Amino acid sequence: MYLENVIADSPELHTGEWSAICIGIFEDKELSERQNQYNSQVEGKITALLAQDDFKGESGQTELIYLGEGAPIRRILLIGLGKRDKFTLDNAREAAGNAVRAAQSRRINDFAVEVFGEDVLDESVAEIVQGITEGLILGSYQFTEYRTKDTEKYFVSKKAGILTDSDVENAIQKGKALAKATAFVRDVALHPSNVMTPSRLSEEAEQIAKIGGFKYRVYDRDEFEQMGMGAFSGVAKGAEEPPKFIVLEYYGGENGDPPVAFVGKGITFDTGGISIKPSKSMHEMKFDMCGAGAVLGIMHAIAELKPPMNIIGIVAATENMPGGKAYKPGDILKAYNGKTIEVLNTDAEGRLALADALAYAEKEFSPKYMVNFATLTGAAIVALGHRASAVMGNNEDLIKDIIAAGEYTGERCWQLPLWDDYSSDLKSEVADVANIGNQGAGTITAGAFLKEFVGETKWAHLDIAGTAWWSEDRPYIPKGASGVGVRLMLRWLDQETT
Ligand code: BES
Ligand code: ZN
Ligand code: ZN
Repeated sequence: MYLENVIADSPELHTGEWSAICIGIFEDKELSERQNQYNSQVEGKITALLAQDDFKGESGQTELIYLGEGAPIRRILLIGLGKRDKFTLDNAREAAGNAVRAAQSRRINDFAVEVFGEDVLDESVAEIVQGITEGLILGSYQFTEYRTKDTEKYFVSKKAGILTDSDVENAIQKGKALAKATAFVRDVALHPSNVMTPSRLSEEAEQIAKIGGFKYRVYDRDEFEQMGMGAFSGVAKGAEEPPKFIVLEYYGGENGDPPVAFVGKGITFDTGGISIKPSKSMHEMKFDMCGAGAVLGIMHAIAELKPPMNIIGIVAATENMPGGKAYKPGDILKAYNGKTIEVLNTDAEGRLALADALAYAEKEFSPKYMVNFATLTGAAIVALGHRASAVMGNNEDLIKDIIAAGEYTGERCWQLPLWDDYSSDLKSEVADVANIGNQGAGTITAGAFLKEFVGETKWAHLDIAGTAWWSEDRPYIPKGASGVGVRLMLRWLDQETT
């Protein structure tokens, strides 16, 4: 659940009608003209508080001034913004996240926020307002579906205003669409694997297709096996739970324009298969469908924003299970593009599912670009931690543009090299290629493996193993699933069309 209602409101007219007004204070504690007005309305209470050392304006710091019913402003919430000269658009999202959390922890139903950083950021008011809308909604997010006890502990504010006289209607709509699609990804990721099965993922996809007017297809095990997807079929062998290969098609562009294809790894649970994982953190492998989540989230946003282009979303969804029917180390699989793969480790399953999905996307749709998302390697967490996705591919411009979109959205990406040399680490004694390398660089060799299944299409691979979930709270990203990918890709698409 999350805050649903975000509106624009005038900074002058209705301040008394909100239960709280959130104002941003930098560490220099200098007030803006507007803040000075507020200060005189409340008889100097803001400057009085700032004169004390309690509130330093550091980012993350919040402080309430209670003025009471009937006062021209009932409550003022001070939101620390940190250093003025270091303030970024992402800090504005974070300030909004901090504001909504401060309000929710005090069970404040409705509140308004300033356009944090309006005077210092280079971005337009509309861009900042969009960011603040995202921060408000995503900061309010909580996953409470399975709580039956102490439910009153979980509180979501009903309404937030953004104080500006500029025309920001579109910016708020866009921020809402992106935040809600991101919250959808979080929901899908946080449901356990006994609920968020491949079948359930296909139902979610169908629902999105209905809303967006997309073409929707789903292939069952027999069908995708018949179609020649031997790699994905191999992974699905051990699963009793029916696997699904899901295809969504949106046509918002010119007839015949090559589409952009998004492809997601949808392992709804990764036990490792016969190369079984240690039990300690195995429960986290319910998140191994976050690539699929990102793709469905992107399509969710597209259903609402309807960009003028053609877009395909593809998800290969299955459990990776051990068992009597499961694929085994040493098995050789034949992928959709005809290449044979020696399976040296059944825990390197995501790349097998993606191999077929990428080859299929390319053959079926001749896309202009392909971008895939996958929680592909633990090594990505070793390399970059949880603060950046690893990006690789066969086209430097595409990678550069994705990295730029990451800087803008706060969903950072960092490039790793995909030099041809790495492909030679995947040599097999018996087949065209092995599914793991043996020379280190685990994230890169996984990327090099995927490259075997991509032809000439401009392609980027995002390893989101580190960024899809984390155990630390951030201002607008609660611990658990982040919903990474949606805001990143919609920004990239935005820049592509302009
Ligand atoms: N889903 C995992 C990757 C993963 C591990 C993501 C930990 C997040 C946290 C993937 O299927 C996997 O098991 N990869 C192996 C590859 C190895 C066998 C070459 C890995 O990273 O250990
Ligand atoms: Zn695995
Ligand atoms: Zn996996």
